[in-house]
Amino acid sequence: MKCLVTGGAGFIGSNLALELEKQGHEVVVVDTMLSGNKNNLDNFKGKIIEKDVSEPLELNEKFDVIFHEAAITDPRHPNDEETYNKNIQGFKNIINLAQKNNVKLIYASTAGLYGNGPVPMKEGQEKETLSAYGKSKLEMDNIASKLFDKMYIVGLRYFNVFGPREAYKNRAASMAYHLGKQIKFNRKPRIFKFGEQIRDHIYVKDAVDATIKAVDAKKSCIVNVGTGIGTTFNELVNVLNEVLEKDLKTEYFDMSYDPKTYQSNTQADTTKAENLIGFKAKWSLKEGIKDYFNFLDKYGWEQ
Ligand SMILES: NC(=O)c1ccc[n+]([C@@H]2O[C@H](COP(=O)([O-])OP(=O)(O)OC[C@H]3O[C@@H](n4cnc5c(N)ncnc54)[C@H](O)[C@@H]3O)[C@@H](O)[C@H]2O)c1
Repeated sequence: MKCLVTGGAGFIGSNLALELEKQGHEVVVVDTMLSGNKNNLDNFKGKIIEKDVSEPLELNEKFDVIFHEAAITDPRHPNDEETYNKNIQGFKNIINLAQKNNVKLIYASTAGLYGNGPVPMKEGQEKETLSAYGKSKLEMDNIASKLFDKMYIVGLRYFNVFGPREAYKNRAASMAYHLGKQIKFNRKPRIFKFGEQIRDHIYVKDAVDATIKAVDAKKSCIVNVGTGIGTTFNELVNVLNEVLEKDLKTEYFDMSYDPKTYQSNTQADTTKAENLIGFKAKWSLKEGIKDYFNFLDKYGWEQ
C-alpha cells in the first residue's frame, strides 16, 4: 500500500509510519512538528512533508490509505478556539483529499469524549466533552458518522496510549512515562490524591496494530481502541516499581485541575473493535512497560 500518515512525526503517528514501512508499505508523512519531532522518525526512509493540514492542502500523489493522526493533542493547550478550529478544519481537508482520490480514511478520535460517563465505555453511550480538544474529536466523529454510506472511513477512539516516542508531548505524555521517569531516577512518584483514578492503558504497539487492522474493517465505523482493563494510578505505580526494581513510596497532592474537567475512570468496551476490525489488545500493562523501558534504556529517557 501507499500510505499517507498525518501527524506522522508525533507519538502514535511515528510508531505507525515505522511499522507500516517495516511491513513493506510506502509511507509519506505530513506534520507541522507542533508536538512531533523528526527525531521520532530516525531511520524512516519515506518522505516527510512539513505542512499544516488545516491549511489548503494539495498533494500530487496517489495514496491507497490515509491515516489521520494529526491534531492539537494537549487538552490543556492554551487556545481553545485554535484547538477546535484547527482540528476540525484539518479533518475536513483530509476528508476532501480522501474523497477526491477515493481512498480509505482511518482517523484518530479519543476516549476523552466519554468524559465521566459510565464504564465500560460503549461507543453509543452519551458523550461528555470536558475540553475543546474533546469537543473537536466529538465533532469529527459526528462528521464521520454522516459519511459512513459515502466513503470508507474508520474512527478510532484511542484510550490512554503509552510507549516509545511520546516524550515530545511533554506534559501531555502518558502517566506511565512521567511516573516511570520519576521512579527510574529515584524521585517519589507524584499523583493526585489518592491515586484511585482509573485508566485503560494501551501499549502503542497494540494501538498501531488496531490502526492497521482498521484498513480492513467490515464497514465504516467508529470503535474503541483500549484493552478493556482499568488500572488505578496506585496499581500503575506498583507495576512501575516492580519493573524498575524499586520501592519508592507515592507522594499524593491536591488535584490542580477542576475535577469536573478530569476523567476519573476510563475503561473501554472492546466488543465493537473485536467484531468490526478484528482487534484485541495483546500486551499486558506490565509486559508493555517492560518493552517500553527497554527502548528508553537503549535510546535514552530524555529524548
Ligand atoms: N496518545 C494518546 O493516548 C491518544 C489518546 C486518544 C487520542 N489520541 C489521538 O491520536 C492522535 C495522535 O496522538 P499522539 O498521542 O500521537 O499525539 P502527538 O501530539 O504526538 O501527535 C500529533 C501530531 O500531529 C502534529 N500536528 C498537529 N497539528 C497539525 C496540523 N494542523 N497539521 C499537521 N500536523 C499537525 C503534531 O506536530 C504531532 O506530531 C491524535 O489525533 C490524538 O488526538 C491519542
